[in-house]
Amino acid sequence: MDDRLKKSLVSSNGIKIFEPMDKKYNLTFKDVGGLDALKKEANIKIIQPFKNPELFKKFNKTAGGGILMYGPPGCGKSYFARAIAGECGAKFYNVTIEDILDMYVGESEKNIKTLFDTVRANRPAIVFIDEIDALGRKRELLRNSSLTTTINAFLAQMDGVESDNENILIIGATNAPWDVDSAFKRTGRFDRTFFIPPPDQSARVEIFKLNLQNLPIDSLDYYQLALESNGFSGADIKGVVERVSEMVIESILENKNDQKITQEHLLQIIKDTKKTTKEWFGMAKNVVEYANSNGFYDDLKEYLSSSTATKRKLGFL
Ligand SMILES: Nc1ncnc2c1ncn2[C@@H]1O[C@H](COP(=O)(O)OP(=O)(O)OP(=O)(O)O)[C@@H](O)[C@H]1O
Ligand SMILES: [Mg+2]
Repeated sequence: MDDRLKKSLVSSNGIKIFEPMDKKYNLTFKDVGGLDALKKEANIKIIQPFKNPELFKKFNKTAGGGILMYGPPGCGKSYFARAIAGECGAKFYNVTIEDILDMYVGESEKNIKTLFDTVRANRPAIVFIDEIDALGRKRELLRNSSLTTTINAFLAQMDGVESDNENILIIGATNAPWDVDSAFKRTGRFDRTFFIPPPDQSARVEIFKLNLQNLPIDSLDYYQLALESNGFSGADIKGVVERVSEMVIESILENKNDQKITQEHLLQIIKDTKKTTKEWFGMAKNVVEYANSNGFYDDLKEYLSSSTATKRKLGFL
């Protein structure tokens, strides 16, 4: 995630200070193209429990727990998390692994304790841990054994052994869920999952519109742009618009005239852009086939079997 959004400082006595993200960086669901089913699910499972705690309490439910977001790179995990923050208005702690891990023995555990103490004192709150696979690395992949101690300290905090975690939601995000130790996925930890898929046709239309709004554009056929960019991530689309803008600026400076972004410009760059999601699905397909005995990847499985057309487009047929 963008460095501006990080908020961890070190105090004069060497203790990390975690601060919530400035609200001005919050997004809302309107900023996110597509993902309609997920927005609905997030509303019921995350946002409403924070907004209507009394209602949920009546049914013995509280806000909080752990959710693991996973999916191909650039498809909006970090972006969607910021939108969740904006929608529910809870304090949002944006944490990266570098905020937690420290090369000195015992320091990482201290950071974890400080993080959880801070968040407990400021609930209701959401802690977003980006690229959690770096912390939750499968033990067999670990070369550094002190990381095991850190992992255990984190899991103990998540379990709320010493104090309760009511009204604290921990969202972890990863594009390598298969590298996350199964201990993280146990009940009471990251036991719910959100699969964030690549944008479908109508989501790509929306993402093109979001990225092109406020730019000098000719009349555009968004449907065609979306059709030609099948398999692109949201980040790929953003990249296309950035490159087209640069191309047009260059041409304006060269020709000393006024120009707009046209359909042809966009189609040309789309043609030259690599789809980044396909490779990820190669791995995902194996995982669904051979490592889904506990149903962890059920939503991914459903996505992969959703339609023959989808599968064909992803190169599985
Ligand atoms: N659904 C979407 N709607 C609008 N913009 C999107 C969407 N998905 C991605 N983007 C754009 O792509 C950028 C990259 O997305 P983001 O960083 O959230 O991806 P990610 O899934 O976290 O990737 P990674 O796995 O590499 O961390 C966002 O900043 C945003 O501009
Ligand atoms: Mg991310």
